[in-house]
Amino acid sequence: MKRIGILTSGGDCQGLNATIRGVAKTLYAHYGDNVKIYGIIDGYRGLIYGEYKEMKPEDFSGILTRGGTILGTSRQPFKLMRVIDETSVDKVKEMKRHYQEMKLDCLVVLGGNGTQKSANMLSEEGMNVIGLPKTIDNDLWGTDITFGFQSAVDIATNVIDCIHTTATSHGRVFIVELMGHKAGWLTLHAGIAGGADVILIPEIPYDINSVINTVKERTKSGKNFSIIAVAEGAITKEVAAMKKKERKAAIASLAYPSISYKIAHEIEEATGQETRVTVPGHFQRGGSPVPYDRVISTRFGVNAAKLIIEEKYGYLVAMQNDRVVPVPLKEIAGKLKSVPPDCDMVKEAKMLGISFGE
Ligand code: F6P
Repeated sequence: MKRIGILTSGGDCQGLNATIRGVAKTLYAHYGDNVKIYGIIDGYRGLIYGEYKEMKPEDFSGILTRGGTILGTSRQPFKLMRVIDETSVDKVKEMKRHYQEMKLDCLVVLGGNGTQKSANMLSEEGMNVIGLPKTIDNDLWGTDITFGFQSAVDIATNVIDCIHTTATSHGRVFIVELMGHKAGWLTLHAGIAGGADVILIPEIPYDINSVINTVKERTKSGKNFSIIAVAEGAITKEVAAMKKKERKAAIASLAYPSISYKIAHEIEEATGQETRVTVPGHFQRGGSPVPYDRVISTRFGVNAAKLIIEEKYGYLVAMQNDRVVPVPLKEIAGKLKSVPPDCDMVKEAKMLGISFGE
């Protein structure tokens, strides 16, 4: 009898259920009744506190298109994993204990950066672990793409499309703030897909005067509106030049609800043009996965099951050059895949006339 545990951890996204389904269906197809799948509730929290349930094949039916996660999720920061909390719980010890209690052959972990860092730690602690690449941020090292990303790009692009029509009618500047504290992939893709005039991402610090000039130039050339796609983690050149501690303090002490409101205020002051902010927020992580995500989620899930069948553990299932490949967790743990400021996509966007506020 094979015993497999599955958990989803960190921020949710589209494609989690499609991936879980891919793993489960493949395992049932291969092992028939000789496999038991345990659903661990709310991510690592369930593994720490022993909250899990035995799943049945029908639990995995009808979930391909369903958003969110049927298992629930939570954020359990990696840096606190080895910290004994106020309830005196030794988290790592407890996770090992529950892994043994379920007699698991493998723990399948769906998650982003922090989650895979913890997955690697558990692998180093002797557990058999397989990671699956989830996040709308697409910032996981070792894989060209994560599931959830294209669905979020779809939603974010729709937001920009809708903003376009109202911006034109009113002759306004619009800032659309998209998710991504550390990586600007979502803003870059949605910005290009939505025809943004300015794209501001954390990897390319901006100068507000450059942004203002772009808006003024557009007005001069007869365009009565401007669309600015801003990643929530966008920073000015000035802040980027600060030491880490200073920078953190500067970001934390921002006198606006978010960076976009500051940018909007500065543009309005300098140009006199009405400037509005739209923040779709968690909307970007909700709803059904787009077909592309359903396909890669299914492929990722099948390949995770394949690794289980082959008893190959300690890997992240990744996409590289359109092939699904296993990448050692220890090679990717703790590494962020950010947008290279000189990558082709940024260069092409610049050639098109999109400003990055430099
Ligand atoms: O990592 C995914 C993500 O959606 C980020 O883009 C965003 O900054 C963050 O999660 C939001 O976190 P929370 O759901 O905890 O507010």
